[in-house]
Amino acid sequence: MRILLLGSGGRENALAWKLAQSPLCEKLFIAPGNAGTSRFGTNISLSLSDFDTIRKVCLGEKIDMVIVGPEEPLVKGITDYLISSKGLEHLDIIGPSQAGARLEGSKAFAKDFMMRHHIPTAAYREFTLDNYEEGVTYLQQHPLPIVLKADGLAAGKGVVICENHIEAIAEFELMIQRAKFGEAGKKVVVEQFLKGIEMSVFVLTDGKHYVVLPEAKDYKRIGEGDTGPNTGGMGAVSPVPFVNPELMRKIDEKVIRPTVEGLRADGLEYRGFIFFGFMITDNEPYMIEYNCRMGDPETEVVIPRLKNDLVELLRAAASQQLHNVTIETDPRTACTVVAVSGGYPGDYTKGYEITGTDSINTDDSILFHMGTIEKDGKILTSGGRVLCITSYGRSVFDAVEISKEELAKVHYTDMVFRQDIGYEFE
Ligand code: AMP
Ligand code: GLY
Repeated sequence: MRILLLGSGGRENALAWKLAQSPLCEKLFIAPGNAGTSRFGTNISLSLSDFDTIRKVCLGEKIDMVIVGPEEPLVKGITDYLISSKGLEHLDIIGPSQAGARLEGSKAFAKDFMMRHHIPTAAYREFTLDNYEEGVTYLQQHPLPIVLKADGLAAGKGVVICENHIEAIAEFELMIQRAKFGEAGKKVVVEQFLKGIEMSVFVLTDGKHYVVLPEAKDYKRIGEGDTGPNTGGMGAVSPVPFVNPELMRKIDEKVIRPTVEGLRADGLEYRGFIFFGFMITDNEPYMIEYNCRMGDPETEVVIPRLKNDLVELLRAAASQQLHNVTIETDPRTACTVVAVSGGYPGDYTKGYEITGTDSINTDDSILFHMGTIEKDGKILTSGGRVLCITSYGRSVFDAVEISKEELAKVHYTDMVFRQDIGYEFE
């Protein structure tokens, strides 16, 4: 198969690493990719919002399968666009239709979907300019803390948790009246605060059947002990030590199955990954959010634990044959530790040279590039999250220790990484 993988982060590096291991992968292209993905295929420089160029690459390179890494092209309808393009009707696309991607693209849509299909989630109300005053009254009598969510995509920044009513009303005004998150945030979901432990489950569905991939937990805050602002993710672990078969059974029965059946019942075309973000309270799962793609950095621990041939698996998803597939998982723990640019998630400098990546011991560790580019034979930083090292171990502690040892061999100016990934499982 000739495969085109869209995206440029650590998730895409992990997917490229796995795809390239398959005997079914005849040729792999990654667009735009990073300095890590070029070790496993050919990078093609393009913008992911330029659907016409993506279409031309599919035609020119005789692509059989497109895998869409990030959410934005999915929410903008890349799947529908490619499949309806002349000469691309045969294409296998891993990633939902625009209608299916609304599970991530609109929080109000996702909440409504969960209510309709009786999927456990926090109670909520939605507000716009039309019922703004009602919203203010609602907030005044809402128990604390209050969770406010901008409806549309806001690059992971659209959720604000307010500790008092004055702050909540001010934030509500900023979102609706002053479009703090642009058009995306002019509709606001106000949600009950859920207490518990977060974790994520990843599913691959063909629209009729599904398989459950290893679960994971990511670490979103920049600072140790989960302090400071949110980032794209500073590390991840899989499996998640507190997860038990009883919980996984509840997740399957109460959330995954109703979701896949609900998509089908509602006529939402979906062949691709579903990322379920949970809050676990007293061993009960409550849905926080859907994403219409794999997580980053969760992919960097989930994919290394997947023993199946990924191309075979994705082909089964594209041809609605997932009921014939059994997922095989590496029993070892995999943990990843992400190294970021100093200053991230605020302002940071790009273009620093990265050295030392050749000295990493690859017996139990894998280097995945995130924000890197190659220039004049050098590898340079090009993003907030720069690279991560995933290691296998007997425990979370063990795997994280190995990743940190290997990260210590890598150098660039103002390199920062958390020392305490997986701290609560020691
Ligand atoms: P989201 O963008 O929906 O993933 O939300 C970002 C983060 O906000 C989540 O990972 C949670 O830590 C937190 N969060 C979202 N919704 C809730 C909720 N209802 N209760 C508590 N925390 C929440
Ligand atoms: N790590 C969270 C995400 O990919 O959205």
